Amino acid sequence: MSSPRKPRRQNPLALLLINIGQLLTLRSDKPGPRRGPELSEIGLLEDAAILCLGGKIVSVGKTKDALRDPWLKKNRKKVIEIDCARHVVLPGFVDSHTHPAFMNPRLVDFEKRISGATYEEIAAAGGGIRSSVEAVRKAGKSALTEKVTRALHQMAEQGTTTVEAKSGYGLTFEAELKSLEAIRSAAARWPGTLVATLLGAHVVPSEFTGRAAEYVNEVCDKMIPAAAKRKLAQFVDVFTDRGAFTSADTEKIFQAAARHGLGVRAHVCQLTEPPLAPLLHFDPASLDHMDHVNDRDLPLLARSNTVATLVPGANYFLGLDRFPPARKLIDAGVAVALATDYNPGSSPTPSMPFVLSLACTHMKMTPAEAISAATINGAWALRLQDSKGSIESGKDADLAVFNAIDYREIAYYFATNHCAFTVLNGTLNLPGEWSAE
Ligand code: NIG
Ligand code: FE
Repeated sequence: MSSPRKPRRQNPLALLLINIGQLLTLRSDKPGPRRGPELSEIGLLEDAAILCLGGKIVSVGKTKDALRDPWLKKNRKKVIEIDCARHVVLPGFVDSHTHPAFMNPRLVDFEKRISGATYEEIAAAGGGIRSSVEAVRKAGKSALTEKVTRALHQMAEQGTTTVEAKSGYGLTFEAELKSLEAIRSAAARWPGTLVATLLGAHVVPSEFTGRAAEYVNEVCDKMIPAAAKRKLAQFVDVFTDRGAFTSADTEKIFQAAARHGLGVRAHVCQLTEPPLAPLLHFDPASLDHMDHVNDRDLPLLARSNTVATLVPGANYFLGLDRFPPARKLIDAGVAVALATDYNPGSSPTPSMPFVLSLACTHMKMTPAEAISAATINGAWALRLQDSKGSIESGKDADLAVFNAIDYREIAYYFATNHCAFTVLNGTLNLPGEWSAE
């Protein structure tokens, strides 16, 4: 199998991809995020072509029809043309849950876990999220920006074109705002799309031990208003679980977010099984992890447009036997997305293809379902469904080209990168160039 001819990195006004063996458009006429059998509808088109202009997709169809287009015939010389050599092209992955604003890996926690300690035991002994805080508080904004930028580039190398990035390792007003500023600076240096989330309520920082309510006030009365005023975040997230924040804390934080015009999402059901109705009342864009969902909540969740974002990289890295119950959720009609949860404690991977592999091998999702969950449903989880997650004219030119002739290979191969290149908002990005930075 010959590789697709690799174009150089450029910022094209006009870009034409031809000779695509399998184009996964993910197009659908049905409203709402994909549920149940709809997850298998990947809109496969063979021998396809895509024309992008000014960062947008302008047409999608058969290669022979694209080449007959009168506009293209007249302007062919101005267009950057890529022969995809019958390879697979799909919408760039939408990684709708990541925590890239951290300084160091947590290697001591890693070894403790190998010796048998659990995530919660490590946190109780002074490791976990709190042990990432000091370095972030001390870091300069530019050092933090470097870390976030590097992660974004690693994600793009593996086919991701849209990333949600959370703060959450600063846990003071200054350090959370600095983290969001670093995320914004990294976004400006990356051609993809970044959605920022304030996760001031990740855990109660040590200096507020025994005073959780005061810390919640700090989040509600200082962090949220400032992040909203300075347009540093589109969403507010809360880690709602044992050892972090209660459902009542979360409701208070969600109310503050709503007052300031920010969307909400939560880490929930990772360790325990709280009732979801009080949170769904706030119409969260997504509820993430969802390892322990109570069956009673399934109908309510299925009736909502809240996406259940599953992050099996965390289950894998924490060495758990149990993975998110994807089949139960899908069969109940819940809209599911897949994301990396890139972070130093539970999921240090930037790779969406690896997450797809886990979803297939450990959660019994089919490759088609996993791809829908990682593209169009990821876009829904960020409320970007009108511009991201599918290949349709009018949407942003976000594409991932894989060294594969059958889309199932993307989830089949693991621990190897088969992404040939990505197009991010119309800009070509090739692996290799990033790692040289
Ligand atoms: O999504 N669960 C809470 N937050 C992260 C872990 C963060 C960390 O351990 O640093 C998660 O798994
Ligand atoms: Fe997370």
